Amino acid sequence: MNIQIPRGTQDILPGQSEIWQYVEQKAHDICRRYNYKEIRTPIFEHTELFLRGVGDTTDIVQKEMYTFTDRGDRSLTLRPEGTASAVRAFVGNKLFGNPSQPTKLYYIGQMFRYERPQSGRMRQFVQFGVEAIGSNDPAIDAEVIALAMEFYRELGLKNVKLVINSLGDKESRNAHREALIQHFQPRIDEFCSDCQSRLEKNPLRILDCKKDRDHELMATAPSIINYLNGQSVAYFEKVKMYLQDMNISYVLDPNLVRGLDYYTNTAFEIMVDGDGFGAITTLCGGGRYNGLVEEIGGPETGGIGFALSIERLIMALEAQKVTVPIDETLDCYVVALGEEAKDKATSLLFELRKAGVRAEKDYLDRKLKAQFKAADRHQAKYTAVLGEDELKANKINVKSMDSKEQEEISLDTFIEYMKARV
Ligand code: HAM
Repeated sequence: MNIQIPRGTQDILPGQSEIWQYVEQKAHDICRRYNYKEIRTPIFEHTELFLRGVGDTTDIVQKEMYTFTDRGDRSLTLRPEGTASAVRAFVGNKLFGNPSQPTKLYYIGQMFRYERPQSGRMRQFVQFGVEAIGSNDPAIDAEVIALAMEFYRELGLKNVKLVINSLGDKESRNAHREALIQHFQPRIDEFCSDCQSRLEKNPLRILDCKKDRDHELMATAPSIINYLNGQSVAYFEKVKMYLQDMNISYVLDPNLVRGLDYYTNTAFEIMVDGDGFGAITTLCGGGRYNGLVEEIGGPETGGIGFALSIERLIMALEAQKVTVPIDETLDCYVVALGEEAKDKATSLLFELRKAGVRAEKDYLDRKLKAQFKAADRHQAKYTAVLGEDELKANKINVKSMDSKEQEEISLDTFIEYMKARV
């Protein structure tokens, strides 16, 4: 029996992987310009990190984590997201002591969630995320949002919609929480058992329950926007002003609550409108998390970030028929005929590559015609033919596939000749 790939995972094969590399390079490039530095954290963490960080009443923690006990009897979890790990590293490595603040980090890495797989929803997926930790300036909220929006724009994605909301500071959130409890309590027995247990612990989570989303109390639930205190309103106004100044348009959605517990103040999602993209339209999610660093054991420090999945991004690019510039061509294909020429071709290839030339040869003992065909398939710009006669004369016959011009080159100068042409 063939062994199948696990559900909700995928192989990224040659042909696709070049698109991934291109997109990832764009992520590195934009982070360089915005001055975010790469962080690489482990793929697994102590389970406790996500219980505290993401929140034990969230769907992610309750239903979606890949948790296992290792041989030392520790509970470990494959990371379902990157923020908790970034903050754990910020605290554990005392990055807050670094004179250059805020600490601006980014990551590209695999995340794992045991979800029901469907198009755009995977059990293993790759997030590109950024985290700016150590500043409570609304300008950094705007910067983080701008970085995400610019990333999509630079990749050529269209019909991208930014949706924002404010979840308020602690005081506003507490007031909203009380209002939610009062709203749902009288009829909580009409809700699922998850929602019932969320009522006291974390009533905000009821709002993103998938089972009860059509219950009439959902539509009339008190909106956070009416519970924001003066400070929270002023903060949100500033974020919006900066976005306007940067000509980044947005839609306000007072019902945007996000599925992770650490959010305070600014919350946002980026969607793509339009056909051909199926049910999943959210490309990116993020927001501010002012209590998280303390929760993980660090000093009182605010942070904001986002994450987006490369899978969904590439799906959106494909749905919009955006092609990315991918160069799979070779500079030189060495066609060798005869035993001695083939031997020589092996070391020639080594020298070509050392000189920076993208080069290939035949390894299947193909005939002349088939070797030329292979050169074509690899879109080689030059073919260099080495037969017994050429070898005797210490020459190689180089043909430009563009101009069809041929030249006999001395084997002593061939590498230099090719180097000058790439
Ligand atoms: P999130 O909304 O859970 O937030 O995920 C962010 C993005 O990851 C989603 O918008 C989506 O593009 C992608 N994503 C999530 N689950 C899947 C999946 N099963 N398959 C494919 N893509 C998926 C976070 O993870 C937060 N850590 C974001 C953040 C960073 N907030 C502040 N800093």
